[in-house]
Amino acid sequence: MKDFLAIADYSPPDLQALLDSAAALKTEWQEGGNPPLLKGKVLAMIFQKPSLRTRVSFDMAMRHLGGDALYLSPAEIGLGKRESIADVARVISGYVQAVMARVFDHQHVLELAKWADIPVINGLSDYNHPCQAAADALTIQENFGTLRGVNVTYIGDGNNVAVSLMHICAKLGANFTIAHPEGYGLDPDAVALGESFAAASGSTVRQLNDPEEAVKGAQVLYTDTWISMGQDEEAARRKAVFPPYQVNQGLLEKAEKDAIVMHCLPAHRGEEITDKVADGPQSRLFPQAHNRLHAQKAILVKLLA
Ligand code: CP
Ligand code: NVA
Repeated sequence: MKDFLAIADYSPPDLQALLDSAAALKTEWQEGGNPPLLKGKVLAMIFQKPSLRTRVSFDMAMRHLGGDALYLSPAEIGLGKRESIADVARVISGYVQAVMARVFDHQHVLELAKWADIPVINGLSDYNHPCQAAADALTIQENFGTLRGVNVTYIGDGNNVAVSLMHICAKLGANFTIAHPEGYGLDPDAVALGESFAAASGSTVRQLNDPEEAVKGAQVLYTDTWISMGQDEEAARRKAVFPPYQVNQGLLEKAEKDAIVMHCLPAHRGEEITDKVADGPQSRLFPQAHNRLHAQKAILVKLLA
């Protein structure tokens, strides 16, 4: 596999190996540092949207592994605007060893990968967010020892983060449930894929509209923004529809007693999650964010070392 574009492209053993590598790299880092496995390698990071976690964690992952990273802001490349994606891909392939791209349209990251001779990593598209899912799975594994049989409930918008989370849960045997408002569910093709992965791993995928029903038996309660980047025009409509899907103390109390709370961040406190839950004892928001670093080191080593 040249690229890391979607969780769906990877087999369960490959995903498990990635998580185990991430865990090992994390321990190694905490015990003094990683060896320079990517010495002399440079990652170009193309952003069409803002970022804190993706930008800083990829940059630091490269540095920790002896390599370097170049940040290319939304104003710089003009991917598909100033220059065609095919031309950007072929030019940049001669300068750096890998590209990470955060794009609006998923087709654009696919196009980049098609034309680039070097590995391309999807740093979030409108369709999915596989690097986030890798960090999420690492976080779940750290808390429960495994994903197999863990009940993961996602509350809110059936967006890019939800798709990748569903796929990694289904691939690795966690039971995935989403509760979403009518009209804001998951992409049906993504669900069909998720169901086929779940059938192979012996887990389940459920789509509900009732958040209270969805959190029954949940060991992981996950949420994300109601308004993803690029959806600003829909903000008013979405803010009217989503409030019953807030992850608050009342909803958390209906989940399992030892349930953990996750969010890819940035959080919109008081909207999809309350301060009390985000900062409470069951929250794993910050360890989850920090796991982006370790999960992405594993992805970079797999594609580049
Ligand atoms: N979760 C995540 O991808 O955060 P950023 O948008 O800050 O990169
Ligand atoms: N669903 C969000 C995730 C941000 C990391 C978005 O696409 O804006």
